[in-house]
Amino acid sequence: MIKLEDFHRLVSPRPVALVTTVDEKGREDVSTFSWITPVSFDPPLIALAIGPNKHSYWNITRINEFVVNIPTEKMIDKVWIAGGPWDPKKSKIEKAKLKTKPAEKVRPPLLSECPVNLECIVETARKAGDHVIVIGRVVKVHAKDDIVDDRGNLKVDVVRPPLHVADNLFAFPYVTKTV
Ligand SMILES: Cc1cc2nc3c(=O)[nH]c(=O)nc-3n(C[C@H](O)[C@H](O)[C@H](O)COP(=O)(O)O)c2cc1C
Repeated sequence: MIKLEDFHRLVSPRPVALVTTVDEKGREDVSTFSWITPVSFDPPLIALAIGPNKHSYWNITRINEFVVNIPTEKMIDKVWIAGGPWDPKKSKIEKAKLKTKPAEKVRPPLLSECPVNLECIVETARKAGDHVIVIGRVVKVHAKDDIVDDRGNLKVDVVRPPLHVADNLFAFPYVTKTV
Protein backbone atom coordinates (compact mmCIF):
# COMPACT_ATOMS: atom_id res chain seq x y z
CA MET A 1 0.00 0.00 0.00
CA ILE A 2 1.44 3.35 -1.02
CA LYS A 3 1.54 5.93 1.75
CA LEU A 4 -0.23 9.24 1.08
CA GLU A 5 3.00 11.21 1.39
CA ASP A 6 4.54 9.05 -1.35
CA PHE A 7 2.04 10.33 -3.99
CA HIS A 8 4.80 12.43 -5.61
CA ARG A 9 6.62 9.23 -6.65
CA LEU A 10 3.66 8.60 -8.96
CA VAL A 11 3.72 12.09 -10.51
CA SER A 12 6.92 11.30 -12.33
CA PRO A 13 9.27 11.49 -14.07
CA ARG A 14 9.81 15.23 -13.92
CA PRO A 15 12.50 17.41 -15.50
CA VAL A 16 15.38 18.38 -13.27
CA ALA A 17 16.72 21.91 -12.95
CA LEU A 18 20.00 23.12 -11.52
CA VAL A 19 19.02 26.37 -9.84
CA THR A 20 21.77 28.90 -9.23
CA THR A 21 21.48 31.57 -6.54
CA VAL A 22 23.69 34.07 -4.70
CA ASP A 23 23.71 35.54 -1.21
CA GLU A 24 24.22 39.20 -0.22
CA LYS A 25 28.01 38.76 -0.44
CA GLY A 26 27.79 37.31 -3.95
CA ARG A 27 28.58 33.75 -2.81
CA GLU A 28 27.05 31.34 -5.31
CA ASP A 29 25.06 28.16 -4.69
CA VAL A 30 23.59 25.51 -6.98
CA SER A 31 20.78 23.15 -5.98
CA THR A 32 18.80 20.48 -7.78
CA PHE A 33 15.01 20.82 -8.06
CA SER A 34 12.44 18.65 -9.78
CA TRP A 35 9.29 20.13 -8.25
CA ILE A 36 9.29 22.78 -10.93
CA THR A 37 6.82 23.82 -13.62
CA PRO A 38 5.87 26.68 -15.97
CA VAL A 39 2.66 28.35 -14.70
CA SER A 40 1.95 31.28 -17.10
CA PHE A 41 2.71 32.17 -20.75
CA ASP A 42 2.19 35.93 -20.36
CA PRO A 43 3.80 37.04 -18.23
CA PRO A 44 6.22 34.09 -18.46
CA LEU A 45 6.20 32.53 -14.99
CA ILE A 46 7.84 29.44 -13.56
CA ALA A 47 7.17 27.87 -10.13
CA LEU A 48 9.54 25.98 -7.86
CA ALA A 49 8.51 24.16 -4.69
CA ILE A 50 11.36 24.64 -2.24
CA GLY A 51 11.88 23.36 1.26
CA PRO A 52 12.33 26.48 3.45
CA ASN A 53 15.32 24.86 5.19
CA LYS A 54 17.34 24.95 1.93
CA HIS A 55 20.19 27.40 1.57
CA SER A 56 18.94 28.29 -1.91
CA TYR A 57 15.56 29.21 -0.40
CA TRP A 58 17.25 31.87 1.73
CA ASN A 59 19.23 33.17 -1.22
CA ILE A 60 16.16 33.30 -3.47
CA THR A 61 13.92 35.03 -0.94
CA ARG A 62 16.59 37.58 0.07
CA ILE A 63 18.01 38.42 -3.35
CA ASN A 64 14.78 37.78 -5.31
CA GLU A 65 16.64 36.32 -8.27
CA PHE A 66 17.55 32.84 -9.51
CA VAL A 67 18.53 31.02 -12.69
CA VAL A 68 16.96 27.75 -13.86
CA ASN A 69 19.60 25.74 -15.76
CA ILE A 70 18.53 22.59 -17.61
CA PRO A 71 21.23 19.87 -17.49
CA THR A 72 22.02 17.09 -19.97
CA GLU A 73 22.31 13.35 -19.34
CA LYS A 74 26.11 13.68 -19.19
CA MET A 75 25.73 16.02 -16.20
CA ILE A 76 23.92 13.47 -14.00
CA ASP A 77 26.80 13.24 -11.48
CA LYS A 78 26.76 17.03 -11.15
CA VAL A 79 22.96 16.95 -10.70
CA TRP A 80 23.49 14.58 -7.79
CA ILE A 81 26.23 16.71 -6.19
CA ALA A 82 24.04 19.84 -6.50
CA GLY A 83 21.30 17.93 -4.66
CA GLY A 84 23.66 17.42 -1.73
CA PRO A 85 23.86 19.65 1.35
CA TRP A 86 25.15 23.22 1.26
CA ASP A 87 28.68 23.46 2.62
CA PRO A 88 29.81 26.89 3.85
CA LYS A 89 33.45 25.89 3.21
CA LYS A 90 33.14 24.77 -0.40
CA SER A 91 30.52 25.76 -2.96
CA LYS A 92 28.69 22.92 -4.71
CA ILE A 93 29.50 24.73 -7.98
CA GLU A 94 33.18 24.06 -7.24
CA LYS A 95 32.51 20.54 -5.92
CA ALA A 96 30.65 19.61 -9.11
CA LYS A 97 33.26 21.37 -11.29
CA LEU A 98 30.52 23.42 -12.94
CA LYS A 99 31.64 26.29 -15.17
CA THR A 100 29.73 29.56 -14.88
CA LYS A 101 29.30 32.76 -16.84
CA PRO A 102 27.54 36.00 -15.90
CA ALA A 103 23.82 36.34 -16.49
CA GLU A 104 22.52 39.44 -18.28
CA LYS A 105 19.72 40.60 -15.97
CA VAL A 106 20.25 38.86 -12.63
CA ARG A 107 23.13 38.28 -10.21
CA PRO A 108 23.18 34.44 -9.99
CA PRO A 109 25.38 32.90 -12.71
CA LEU A 110 24.49 30.81 -15.76
CA LEU A 111 25.88 27.28 -15.87
CA SER A 112 27.84 27.14 -19.13
CA GLU A 113 27.42 23.39 -19.76
CA CYS A 114 23.63 23.62 -19.55
CA PRO A 115 22.01 24.10 -22.97
CA VAL A 116 19.15 26.13 -21.44
CA ASN A 117 19.33 28.93 -18.84
CA LEU A 118 16.31 30.93 -17.69
CA GLU A 119 17.04 34.13 -15.78
CA CYS A 120 14.25 34.74 -13.25
CA ILE A 121 13.12 37.46 -10.86
CA VAL A 122 10.89 36.46 -7.95
CA GLU A 123 7.30 37.55 -8.46
CA THR A 124 5.79 35.97 -5.35
CA ALA A 125 6.29 33.21 -2.77
CA ARG A 126 3.58 31.30 -0.92
CA LYS A 127 3.81 28.65 1.76
CA ALA A 128 2.37 25.31 0.63
CA GLY A 129 2.53 22.70 3.40
CA ASP A 130 6.15 21.90 4.16
CA HIS A 131 7.42 23.67 1.02
CA VAL A 132 7.21 27.21 -0.33
CA ILE A 133 6.08 27.80 -3.90
CA VAL A 134 8.33 30.45 -5.38
CA ILE A 135 7.05 31.95 -8.62
CA GLY A 136 9.65 33.61 -10.80
CA ARG A 137 9.21 35.80 -13.86
CA VAL A 138 11.45 34.65 -16.70
CA VAL A 139 13.26 37.80 -17.83
CA LYS A 140 15.83 36.28 -20.20
CA VAL A 141 16.01 32.93 -22.01
CA HIS A 142 19.27 31.40 -23.26
CA ALA A 143 19.01 28.27 -25.43
CA LYS A 144 21.83 26.92 -27.59
CA ASP A 145 20.81 26.89 -31.29
CA ASP A 146 21.46 23.19 -31.88
CA ILE A 147 19.11 22.04 -29.09
CA VAL A 148 15.87 23.69 -30.25
CA ASP A 149 13.75 22.82 -33.28
CA ASP A 150 12.21 25.44 -35.58
CA ARG A 151 9.23 25.87 -33.23
CA GLY A 152 11.51 26.51 -30.26
CA ASN A 153 10.90 23.10 -28.69
CA LEU A 154 13.72 21.42 -26.80
CA LYS A 155 15.27 18.60 -28.84
CA VAL A 156 14.94 16.11 -26.02
CA ASP A 157 16.64 13.32 -27.94
CA VAL A 158 19.72 15.54 -28.30
CA VAL A 159 19.79 17.05 -24.79
CA ARG A 160 18.56 13.89 -23.03
CA PRO A 161 17.66 15.84 -19.86
CA PRO A 162 17.65 13.69 -16.71
CA LEU A 163 14.11 13.07 -15.48
CA HIS A 164 13.55 12.52 -11.79
CA VAL A 165 11.38 9.77 -10.33
CA ALA A 166 12.35 10.12 -6.64
CA ASP A 167 15.41 9.85 -4.39
CA ASN A 168 18.33 8.69 -6.58
CA LEU A 169 16.10 7.19 -9.30
CA PHE A 170 16.16 8.91 -12.71
CA ALA A 171 14.62 8.10 -16.11
CA PHE A 172 16.11 8.68 -19.57
CA PRO A 173 13.26 7.84 -21.98
CA TYR A 174 13.67 9.71 -25.26
CA VAL A 175 11.10 9.00 -27.93
CA THR A 176 9.19 12.02 -29.24
CA LYS A 177 5.90 11.73 -31.13
CA THR A 178 3.75 14.44 -32.69
CA VAL A 179 0.07 13.59 -32.06
C1 LIG B 1 16.96 15.04 -8.31
C2 LIG B 1 16.65 15.90 -7.12
C3 LIG B 1 15.53 16.71 -7.11
C4 LIG B 1 15.24 17.54 -6.01
N1 LIG B 1 14.13 18.34 -6.04
C5 LIG B 1 13.89 19.19 -5.01
C6 LIG B 1 12.78 20.09 -5.06
O1 LIG B 1 12.05 20.16 -6.05
N2 LIG B 1 12.58 20.91 -3.98
C7 LIG B 1 13.42 20.92 -2.89
O2 LIG B 1 13.21 21.68 -1.94
N3 LIG B 1 14.49 20.06 -2.84
C8 LIG B 1 14.74 19.23 -3.87
N4 LIG B 1 15.83 18.40 -3.84
C9 LIG B 1 16.71 18.44 -2.66
C10 LIG B 1 17.70 19.60 -2.71
O3 LIG B 1 18.42 19.64 -3.92
C11 LIG B 1 18.67 19.42 -1.52
O4 LIG B 1 17.96 19.57 -0.31
C12 LIG B 1 19.87 20.35 -1.55
O5 LIG B 1 20.70 19.99 -0.46
C13 LIG B 1 19.49 21.82 -1.41
O6 LIG B 1 20.70 22.53 -1.44
P1 LIG B 1 20.86 23.96 -0.79
O7 LIG B 1 20.63 23.84 0.70
O8 LIG B 1 22.26 24.35 -1.15
O9 LIG B 1 19.83 24.83 -1.44
C14 LIG B 1 16.13 17.56 -4.91
C15 LIG B 1 17.28 16.75 -4.93
C16 LIG B 1 17.54 15.94 -6.03
C17 LIG B 1 18.80 15.11 -6.04
